[in-house]
Amino acid sequence: MTTQNKATAAPRGAAGEPVLAVEDLSVDFLLDTGAVHAVRGVSWQVAAGETLAVVGESGSGKTATALSVLRLNPEPPCVYPGGRVLFAGEDLLSCGEKRLRAVRGGAVSMVFQDPMTSLDPLQRVGTQVAEVLRHHRGASRAEAREAALAALDEVGVPDPARRYRQYPHELSGGLRQRVMIAAALVGRPDVLIADEPTTALDVTVQRQILDLLLSLKERHGMAVVLITHDLGVVAETADRVVVMNRGEVVENGDVLDVFEHPEDPYTRALLAATPRLERTA
Ligand SMILES: Nc1ncnc2c1ncn2[C@@H]1O[C@H](COP(=O)(O)OP(=O)(O)OP(=O)(O)O)[C@@H](O)[C@H]1O
Ligand SMILES: [Mg+2]
Repeated sequence: MTTQNKATAAPRGAAGEPVLAVEDLSVDFLLDTGAVHAVRGVSWQVAAGETLAVVGESGSGKTATALSVLRLNPEPPCVYPGGRVLFAGEDLLSCGEKRLRAVRGGAVSMVFQDPMTSLDPLQRVGTQVAEVLRHHRGASRAEAREAALAALDEVGVPDPARRYRQYPHELSGGLRQRVMIAAALVGRPDVLIADEPTTALDVTVQRQILDLLLSLKERHGMAVVLITHDLGVVAETADRVVVMNRGEVVENGDVLDVFEHPEDPYTRALLAATPRLERTA
């Protein structure tokens, strides 16, 4: 199995060099009622060991952008009129399905908001984590099981051997989200995209999951793209922030710069609506 010691290996791309770059991306949904221009000329990039936050109100195109990275928007109705998604220099938007399948859950992985929609209710959670390695890395059953147990342990699932055999409904929301993160991390991705990974959880558990994501980022030198509504989370966790409004990027910069000197009226309104921001990191 090739994943074994990747944690200690240098991530792809030299320090500061973007490992993932979205360039002038547009995403349309062609519906019976007309075309929805969900994403319009969006560009951002993220480097190894860096956290990029993507914020913006509901419907601003955050998820459509994130799903484009792995070409996961349903086609139809989705089409990509323009743009590129460069992963370590390779355009994922124009590469073939076979290559995409290799990248998904391998070098680039995603965590979604609601684990119940992503976990198979009929499969044991451990098997679902192990399957990532069976499918993406060609690991043997025993290797995959061992790595899955280690991943569950790493993300703080207590008594991994017992939990391994349980089904999603037997776990709390926080534990399910940890299982999702274990599944996303077991292949040692270079890039982790987390789309509102904590909004379904209560505040204490949110905190724990975010801390976990950040410590894993540090440990593995991943690039993290964190989609969130919560500017407090951005202030505490992100290096840079992209603000989206109606499918467009209206702000893109260092978190402190953007928060202290927002250039766009939409960002100012967003900041004004947020109680009190304090950077603790
Ligand atoms: N599969 C789809 N079919 C049709 N329209 C879609 C689809 N996915 C997204 N859209 C539309 O694209 C636009 C952007 O949606 P998107 O889900 O990216 O927003 P978002 O910023 O993630 O919002 P939220 O904060 O609510 O998650 C919306 O107008 C949405 O209705
Ligand atoms: Mg969304």
